[in-house]
Amino acid sequence: MKYDVKDLSLAKKGSLRIEWANEYMKVLELVRKRFKKEKPLKGLKVCCCLHVTTETANLALTLKEGGAQVSVCASNPLSTQDDVAASMVKDLGISTFAIRAEDNKTYYKHINSALDTKPNITMDDGADLVSTIHKARKTLASHVLGGTEETTTGVIRLKSLEKKRLLLYPIIAVNDADTKHLFDNRYGTGQSTIDGIVRATNVLLAGATMVVSGYGWCGRGVAMRARGMGANVVITEIDPTKALEAVMDGFSIMPMIEACKKGDVFVTLTGDINVIRKEHFELMKDGAIVANSGHFNVEIDIPALERISTKKRKVKEFVEEYTLKGGRRINLLGEGRLINLAAAEGHPASVMDMSFANQALSCEYIAKNYKKLEKRVYKVPDFIDRSIAKLKLESLGVKIDTLTKEQEKYLVSWELGT
Ligand SMILES: NC(=O)c1ccc[n+]([C@@H]2O[C@H](COP(=O)([O-])OP(=O)(O)OC[C@H]3O[C@@H](n4cnc5c(N)ncnc54)[C@H](O)[C@@H]3O)[C@@H](O)[C@H]2O)c1
Repeated sequence: MKYDVKDLSLAKKGSLRIEWANEYMKVLELVRKRFKKEKPLKGLKVCCCLHVTTETANLALTLKEGGAQVSVCASNPLSTQDDVAASMVKDLGISTFAIRAEDNKTYYKHINSALDTKPNITMDDGADLVSTIHKARKTLASHVLGGTEETTTGVIRLKSLEKKRLLLYPIIAVNDADTKHLFDNRYGTGQSTIDGIVRATNVLLAGATMVVSGYGWCGRGVAMRARGMGANVVITEIDPTKALEAVMDGFSIMPMIEACKKGDVFVTLTGDINVIRKEHFELMKDGAIVANSGHFNVEIDIPALERISTKKRKVKEFVEEYTLKGGRRINLLGEGRLINLAAAEGHPASVMDMSFANQALSCEYIAKNYKKLEKRVYKVPDFIDRSIAKLKLESLGVKIDTLTKEQEKYLVSWELGT
């Protein structure tokens, strides 16, 4: 088995942490038990480009139990947990290529090593496998039955390929399942982004002004949690409907050129480029904290920050202090990469349970239905989405009502009124 991880002697610690996460992943555990019996992925090679965390280890094991040969590489150079990567190789027998803080060259070398297995299913978080296949390794596409995509940014890239009729195989947009983005993006990113900022800085949020850029699923989650901790939350948006929603949810909303003067802490969650840039840095308060929790490290214009700074020093793990002309300082967290994965542990396992159950069941769906699928981006089938919600409720011990016969009839009829 091929692999490239930092240090196999870290495996014991990783194994305990994987076991801990599994305790909170009851839906995935049920899928795994069924996969072990039915082997729906028998004979298939699955290549996963995901954050190498405890939850991913449990997903990789589920795919392996389902009969697949699994290879894993990182979807972000700063999110790999080296102890988990070691345990994935040593204890779970998963071919893993990921080292925390690897440089860009190693990052892509690892993606290519994982792709060397000639996968039948690709599983992406940010579409790096798909884009490597489409840009540099087109011949691999003939082996691929289909792929899945975990995050908003990846789905946007894939829909752009689809629109240009360049997509070489079908994709299931796991991100777009209700049991994914309504929970993972909102509650998972909401909690873990704040966890990352607090772990990196120990900043007191009560009374601080926190500027949240983007009021999508992730931004809503962060804004809601930051308010709960006593921060004055300011939202920046470009979409009028989302902005209106933020207003009616009771947040202050203004353009970044105004917000940049007020914020003590900034966090971007837009999936867009250069949301915080030169003209904003120049107006920020001394000591402002700037972080990103959108997928790529492009939401903060770091090259511009470098250009206008006279000095830069690492003041603390995950905190680079930039001094601008005139002496004001700006603290950039986690090199502008996903702060929840750089400085904290990513989303809590309980929320990844649903996201990764979607991933495993979407893989099974591809294995069973690939002949019917076109080179398009598909939603996760509704029956999968609903079954995950049902199982999650059951695992939480929550019961809900069911429709009576009379109600069923009422809801499909047009004749009945007052
Ligand atoms: N940190 C994590 O673990 C994590 C988890 C899930 C998703 N993500 C990533 O977070 C990002 C946001 O995801 P989402 O699901 O919330 O997407 P979304 O599409 O629901 O929301 C993005 C919002 O940003 C707004 N926006 C775009 N450009 C902007 C700009 N210049 N200024 C202000 N607002 C702007 C959009 O109008 C939209 O409302 C994506 O890159 C996604 O891949 C990160």
